[in-house]
Amino acid sequence: MTRPLLQVKELIKRFKEREVVKGISFSVAEGSCAALLGPNGAGKTTTISMLAGLLQPSGGSIELLVNGSPVPDRRPYIGYLPQTPVFYPWMTGKEFLLYAGELAGLKSREAALETAEWLEAVGLKDAGNRKIGGYSGGMKQRLGLAQALIHRPKLLILDEPVSALDPAGRKDVLSLLQRIRQETTVLFSTHVLHDAEEICDEILMIREGEIALVGSLDHIRRTYSEPVIRLEVGGDEASRAWLAAVGAKDFVSQAETSGGRAKLTVTDVEQASLALMADAVAHRVMIRSLEAGQSTLEDLFLKVVQS
Ligand SMILES: Nc1ncnc2c1ncn2[C@@H]1O[C@H](COP(=O)(O)OP(=O)(O)OP(=O)(O)O)[C@@H](O)[C@H]1O
Ligand SMILES: [Mg+2]
Repeated sequence: MTRPLLQVKELIKRFKEREVVKGISFSVAEGSCAALLGPNGAGKTTTISMLAGLLQPSGGSIELLVNGSPVPDRRPYIGYLPQTPVFYPWMTGKEFLLYAGELAGLKSREAALETAEWLEAVGLKDAGNRKIGGYSGGMKQRLGLAQALIHRPKLLILDEPVSALDPAGRKDVLSLLQRIRQETTVLFSTHVLHDAEEICDEILMIREGEIALVGSLDHIRRTYSEPVIRLEVGGDEASRAWLAAVGAKDFVSQAETSGGRAKLTVTDVEQASLALMADAVAHRVMIRSLEAGQSTLEDLFLKVVQS
């Protein structure tokens, strides 16, 4: 069992009378990557801003533990990339990192060394002397990551680091994060579940300011994943009618049907597949595809969010 790096207890945020973070408690283990998941308005940015020290909590406590004991000021140990980072377009990437390094308390020599190193690490070595105004979205986000890492923080906090990027930019930043997480503890918010599944090992789902689900990805998968069959049938009326009725079979515990497709939660994938195919043959239904598998984190997310 690894020890916690961040410990959050009963954290509350109120804006006027309205409580938007309602006493959440969780911890992030040293060396882990935790994804903060939740729909729009769930309270992700508010929570992250409190963790990063930019927003005063209305209640509760946040502790960062270095070598097992809480530090009085956690900010020097945290690197933070906001949801919509702001850059000075007239600065070059290199100038910006030097500036960020000195702001973070590095001596100018150190800042210069770290700047060179991080420009290289995030793949901006050649673009370092160009103005940020000419950078693509993906380049800006990589620069933002370098800025957050320049003082070698113990905890890197990112608010939706890839949601504004095109697929190429996303892939870029995600693979960079994959590398960073080998050395740094990472907490990032996202509503792109696939990204969480790809890089993280801990999941923290919030909904309306409360924790809806928390645990390791493995544990959550094991506990909540259910056998699922995805089925697509031919477009003729008989096939559609058959599909619509399939949900009533006793081995189907839940069915979602739309058009010629159905997602069936079943008790046993193997038996259910065989029974479905036999039944389809008997009714002369054309099966276009049948895929047997497990429910995904996305299915679970939707279930948690909608419940
Ligand atoms: N400064 C503020 N004053 C008043 N209400 C606020 C303030 N900041 C956030 N809120 C409210 O708090 C709730 C949570 O907002 P927050 O930005 O934390 O959500 P989020 O999970 O980050 O959403 P998104 O996925 O859209 O980024 C929302 O209802 C929002 O309107
Ligand atoms: Mg947000």
